[in-house]
Amino acid sequence: MASTGTRKTTPADITAAAVASFEGCADPRLRELMQSLVRHLHGFATEVGLTEEEWREMIVTLTATGHITDARRQEFILWSDSLGLSMLVDALAHALPPGATESTVLGPFYVPGAPQRSYGESMVVEPGAGIPAWVYGRVLDVSGAPIAGAELDVWQNGADMLYAVQRPEAEEDHLRGRYLTREDGSYAFVAVRPVPYPIPDDGPVGRMLSATGRHPWRPAHIHMIVRASGYKTVTTHVFDAVSEYLDSDAVFAVKPSLFRTFVERSPDDPERPPSVDGEWVSLENDIVLARAEDGEDGGAVVDPGRTA
Ligand code: BEZ
Ligand code: FE
Repeated sequence: MASTGTRKTTPADITAAAVASFEGCADPRLRELMQSLVRHLHGFATEVGLTEEEWREMIVTLTATGHITDARRQEFILWSDSLGLSMLVDALAHALPPGATESTVLGPFYVPGAPQRSYGESMVVEPGAGIPAWVYGRVLDVSGAPIAGAELDVWQNGADMLYAVQRPEAEEDHLRGRYLTREDGSYAFVAVRPVPYPIPDDGPVGRMLSATGRHPWRPAHIHMIVRASGYKTVTTHVFDAVSEYLDSDAVFAVKPSLFRTFVERSPDDPERPPSVDGEWVSLENDIVLARAEDGEDGGAVVDPGRTA
C-alpha cells in the first residue's frame, strides 16, 4: 500500500518496479523478454541472498569476459556453452522428424568461407596432423532418398588438440573444407581422427570451471554444417563412439544418435585412399535432413564467406 506516501523499497517492491518499467515497451516480444529477464535475475539474487561482494565479483567477471573477447576469441559464447544455455536454445529451436540427424552446438571455432573441395579430397594441409581418417557417407532425406548437391561445411581439431583458427601461424584452411554430395547423395573426404580437447580455459570461463571443480574437456568430434536447398540446415558433430568425456562434455553437447565408430585399417588395405600413407581409419556417417517448412530459408547452398 502506498497510502503512507513513502516509496516501496522491499525486495519484492524493487522487482515489481523494475518489471513495470517495461510496461510501455511497444514491441511485445521485447517487453516479454525484458520483464522475464528481470524477474529471473531478481529471483536468483533473492533466492541466494546475493551479497554486495559477490555482485562486485560478477561485474569483474563480466568485464574480464569483454576484455578477452575479440575476433578470434568469443568468451560470451563460451559462457553460454559451459552453462548449458547454447544446448538449451538448440533444443528449444529444433523439433525434428524421427530419423533426421540431430543438431548440436556450433562452438567458437567455426570460420565461414572454408575452401570448396572435391569428392575425396583431403582437408589436411599441414602434414602430421593426426591419424588419417577417410570419412564417407550419404546425405539423405527422411524417406531415405539421396540429396544431390548438399553441402557439408566441415572443421575439426588436429592431434595437437587445436583448431587452425586457434594458432596464428597455422595454414588457415587446415582441417576445414566444404564438400558437395554427388548425384547419389554420396560424399567423402580425408580428415584426421579427432582427439578430445579442452575448451579455452585461460580466461573467466576457465576460472569458473576450476573454482567449481569442473573439467574443460570435450569428447573427440568432427564438426559439420550440412545445407541443401529445400531442407533445414543442420549444425552437428560426429562423435568418436569410444572417446573419453562422452559422459561429461564440458558444454553438454553430446547426443548418442551422433556416435559413430572409427574403423582401424591397415596400410595395405586395398581401399586405402591415394593421399594416405601408413595406418589409417575410416568412418561411415550418413546424414538425414528434414524438409524446410514454409517460410524457412530452406538451407540454400551459399558461400557463407561471400554473404558475411
Ligand atoms: C567446439 O566444439 O569447437 C566447442 C564448442 C563449445 C565450446 C568450445 C568449443
Ligand atoms: Fe569442437
